[in-house]
Parts: sequence; structure tokens; C-alpha cells
Amino acid sequence: MCGIVGYIGYREAYPIVIKGLKRLEYRGYDSAGILLYDGKNLKVSKTKGKVIDLEEKSSNEITTNGTIGMGHTRWATHGIPNDANSHPHLSNSGELSIIHNGIIENYGPLKEELINRGYTFSSDTDSEVLINIIEDVQKKYKLKLGKAVQVALNQVVGAYAICVFDSKKPNEIIVARLGSPLAIGVGEGEFFIASDASPFLEYTSNAIYLEDEEMAIVRLHKPLKIRKIKDDSLVAPYVQELKMNLEQIEKGGFDHFMLKEIYEQANVIKDTYRGRLHADKGMIQMAGIEDNLDKFLYAERIIIIACGTSWHAGLVAEYIIEEYARIPVEVEYASEFRYRNPIITNKDVIIAISQSGETADTLAAIKLAKENGAFVFGVCNVVGSSISRETHAGAYTHAGPEIGVASTKAFTTQITVLTMIALRLAQAKGTMSATDFQKNLQELQLIPEKVQETLALTEVIAKEIAAIYKDVPNCLYLGRGYNFPVALEGALKLKEISYIHAEGYPAAEMKHGPIALIDEKMPVVVIAPKQAHYDKVVSNIQEIKSRSGKIIAIVTKGDTQVKELADHYIEIPETLDAFSPLLTTIPLQLLSYHIAVMRDCNVDQPRNLAKSVTVE
Ligand code: AGP
Ligand code: GLU
Repeated sequence: MCGIVGYIGYREAYPIVIKGLKRLEYRGYDSAGILLYDGKNLKVSKTKGKVIDLEEKSSNEITTNGTIGMGHTRWATHGIPNDANSHPHLSNSGELSIIHNGIIENYGPLKEELINRGYTFSSDTDSEVLINIIEDVQKKYKLKLGKAVQVALNQVVGAYAICVFDSKKPNEIIVARLGSPLAIGVGEGEFFIASDASPFLEYTSNAIYLEDEEMAIVRLHKPLKIRKIKDDSLVAPYVQELKMNLEQIEKGGFDHFMLKEIYEQANVIKDTYRGRLHADKGMIQMAGIEDNLDKFLYAERIIIIACGTSWHAGLVAEYIIEEYARIPVEVEYASEFRYRNPIITNKDVIIAISQSGETADTLAAIKLAKENGAFVFGVCNVVGSSISRETHAGAYTHAGPEIGVASTKAFTTQITVLTMIALRLAQAKGTMSATDFQKNLQELQLIPEKVQETLALTEVIAKEIAAIYKDVPNCLYLGRGYNFPVALEGALKLKEISYIHAEGYPAAEMKHGPIALIDEKMPVVVIAPKQAHYDKVVSNIQEIKSRSGKIIAIVTKGDTQVKELADHYIEIPETLDAFSPLLTTIPLQLLSYHIAVMRDCNVDQPRNLAKSVTVE
């Protein structure tokens, strides 16, 4: 996820692009860059850091005049945040330039092909490969830019929202999108291009939102032509008048970043397995795993270290790696691991999970593990973060920036990465039949649409239940197997954003004390999808019912048994046991969110909390 801004018109482009990038920094802030054309010269300035750093550098580095410009604020996916990997990227000739939001999955083989043809690269990004493919096509077939972009995009696999500029034809900007958003602001004698409308809302409220697989040639004093990338067919532009204010646009029309990020989960899970899960070929391909496969296969055990929600994702990973790949797994709180003088050997593989990649306890635990000879693999969401640099190898979640302090999409994308690791290890160890492996790949590929279905199924009911229980002082969450970690995660969500005390337990653990808490005032959220131990969970529900506890059950669509017993139930689609956390966590996220809103809590910045705990 990143922010793109383009301008072509009669005004000075520089202030429009810089201010627009600042409005889009919530979409990514690893690095920033700007390109300006003043009628004669192409000027580019880019830097690691925020837009304010770009403003400082560019005002000293380039003359900032010019009525055509484009800019980018990056959330890195390929290549660490540094000046060279910042956008815009130029083609080898220096004539073509691109800003890109998204991921080009097949950039590797395409880059090799270009190198064989003599192209050179100054960055590690997939975006620089794309602009050189466009150049290669343009030269080979002697095409105008628009056509060259169209032909090139039919060669790439992945997601993109791009602006492409050719200094040989400086009166137009070519835009195209697939999987990443792109809006065009239509002004009087000027056009604005951006990831959302916030950069141009003050200039025009007339916007065209490109649809997937559409492109346009944005040319001054010419009506906008939108075409389908695949077959070049014309699409009638639909200009809508925007009614949203800036803040609403930044939150995508949602009231809070947390709700926006809950709803982003289907897309970011897809982004996370993009280029890695190849169900049609029966393959999982993760460079960090392939390059270190033997370390995992011959590991005596895997130790997962993390904090908070990431620790809950680690617990899910323990269950799935042990069940699928039969490798012993231990999950440790990083803060405990680092101080308890643990036994670590060079036969251990450590998996460190961290959304921010900056959590002090996790970083310290990694260093301790490395000192003792362990191989450390990171699962982070921030490219180039401290933890991603400290680990020997890793795999990024592609959740995009998570602004809400309460972690939601990071949790589900972490589980997605860890699930792919478990599957790849099971395949390599032969602990899973080819049929089961294929069945898992196909089901994993269906998860985004099941997440979308879960959101549609649960939003209303979660809000209704929230209204009933928003003032309770305590709440219990119960789950078994894969959903025990989800019970812990659900309790954490409620605690941290609504300040209601909540605890998660393995469902069977109730009998060993906590059941003393049950009375008619105690709501108990029971995660009871149709899967292994379902009957045992039903018994647990009956035990609670017989003590007048209020049951809020998460059930599989079509369930009848639990529905009879529960005071409230929320239905979710069926999936494999191991994938159920990706769905069962969603109603719990929504339940916590709506309770917190009804309690007038600060949902995105809860009291006493920080998004990244960089201190002990
Ligand atoms: C989760 O909602 C919290 N914000 C917190 O527990 C968080 O998961 C924990 O601090 C770990 O952060 P990290 O994933 O960035 O390392
Ligand atoms: N994949 C591109 C990069 O890593 C773009 C990432 C983004 O969307 O910011 O530079």
C-alpha cells in the first residue's frame, strides 16, 4: 500500500503533489519522491523518510517549477526503504518514469529477461522492472506510451495503480489500475491523479474512480479516454461528485482506521499470498523458506517468539505446524524468553513475529537466540524494520500500514504467512498427502472471499450484541484447538479498546476454576465452529448454561445444536479447522469495535497504549 499523486494542468505542480502526498502518508511512509516537468527538463528528487524530508531535500535539490508532476509515498514490498528504492523510478533511457502502488508478482523472471537484453537496474524494486518493460515494449514495437503501457501490463501478474510519464511526449500521464485504487480528479483545464481523493478534494469534487483492469490517457484539453487493458475497448467515464470530507476519505469512508483495517482483511490476505501461493500448480513458493528449507526440516524444534496479538498468531502457528509438519513447536512471550536463561541450541529455529518490526522485547529475544547459534526467521509487516534486518531471513506480511493500535489485519496476515510455512514444510517432509496439500491450497485461496462473506454476515449481529453487553464489567472467551488462541485474541481486543476486563481460556479449562465466575451477569463468547471437538465445546456450553451464563456463540453457518443453547449466535462460513482462525476472529474484532464505539472509547488510539512498544 502506498500513496500516489499526479497533476497535469496550469498550476504549479510541486505544492499540489507535496501536499497531496502528506494527505496520503497514512498509506505508507517509508520513503517519498517527486518528479516535475517544466516544459524542458525532467526533475526527480526522492529520499528515505517522510514527505517532510522530501520537501526539505527537493527544495534544495531541484527547481520546483513545472505544471506536470507526480509523487509517491512508499510502503515497501520489494527492496528496503532507501533513496534508491524510492519512487519515481526512471527507465534505462531516463525518458520514462513511473510511480507504482502494488506488487508485480512475476517481476523476477521479467527482470532476468531485461538484464539479458542489457538493461541495468539501480533499485531492488519490482516497480523499476515495470517501467523498463514498458520502455522495452515501446522501443521494440515503436509504440506510443499509452499502447506500450497496455502491452506491457498484459505481461505482468500482480497488483498496480500506476502513473507513467514520457518526457518525449510531455502533455499526458498514463494511468492504470489492477487491485490498487486510483482516482482521477477532473478540474477545469487540469487533472489530478491519486490513490484516493484527499489530495484533490480542495480543487475539485468531480472524480472518476478507475475500475480494475482499466487504464486512461490523461491529456490536457482532451476528453478523458478510459480503456480496458485487456482488449482496448472504450469505457464511458463515470464522473461522480464527492460528498466526503478529508478525514472520511483518509479512513476510506469508515469512522475509524480499525474498522477500515478489519474490512481490508480480504484484500491484504490476498496480497500476502500473492506470488507465493500457486494453487493451480500445487505449489507454495517463499524465498525465505526455500533458501533455508533444511534448517527447518532438520530443526529439533521451532521456537516462536512474539508479544501480544503476534504471540496469539504464534499459538495458531504452533497448532498448525505441529499438526501439518510434525515439527515440535514452542511459543514464548519474548519478554519472558529473553530473561529466563532459556536453553537455545544451533538446532533450534526461531520464528519472530512482529507487525511493527520494532518491539523491543522481541528484538532482544532475537539477539539472544542468535548469540546462542539459533537460526532466526522473521515475520514482519514493515519492510526494513529493525527486526526484519536483525533476522537471518524472513517473510513479510503485505498488510499495508496498520494505523489502528489494536491489531487486526496484521493478525490474519501473520496467520496467512505462518499457514503457508506450515504447508510448505509439510509438503517437504512428506507429512501431508499430495491430495490434502492440494485441498489446503485451494481452500486457502478461497479464504479472502470467505472473509468477505464473514464480514457481511457478522457486522449487523455484532453491533446488536454489542449494544446488549457494552456495559458489562467482565467477559470470558472460550475456544478449543485452533480457536483457543482466537479466544485469547478476542479477549485482548475487548480489553484494549473498550477497557472491559476479559479473559480467554481453553474451553475445557473452565472446569478448573474459572467456571466459578459464571452467573447471569457474565457474558461468555464461545468459539464453536463445526470442527474437531465440536461436541466437547457443546458440553462446555451446557455447563455454562446450567449456571445461567450468557452465551455468545460463533458458529458455522447452518449449525443447529449450538444455536439452541446460545443466547446469541454469529454464523461464519465453513472452512478447514486450521484456517478457522482467519474467520472466527472477525466477529470478535467487530464485537470489540462496536462495544468500544458505544462506550465512546478512543478506538484508534486507546488510552495507555502505543502502536509499537519500543521500550521494555
Ligand atoms: C495488539 O492489538 C496490540 N496492539 C499489541 O498486543 C501488539 O500486538 C504487540 O505490542 C506486538 O506488537 P508487534 O506485533 O508490532 O511486535
Ligand atoms: N512494490 C513497490 C515497491 O516495493 C510498491 C510498493 C507500494 O505499494 O508502496 O516499491
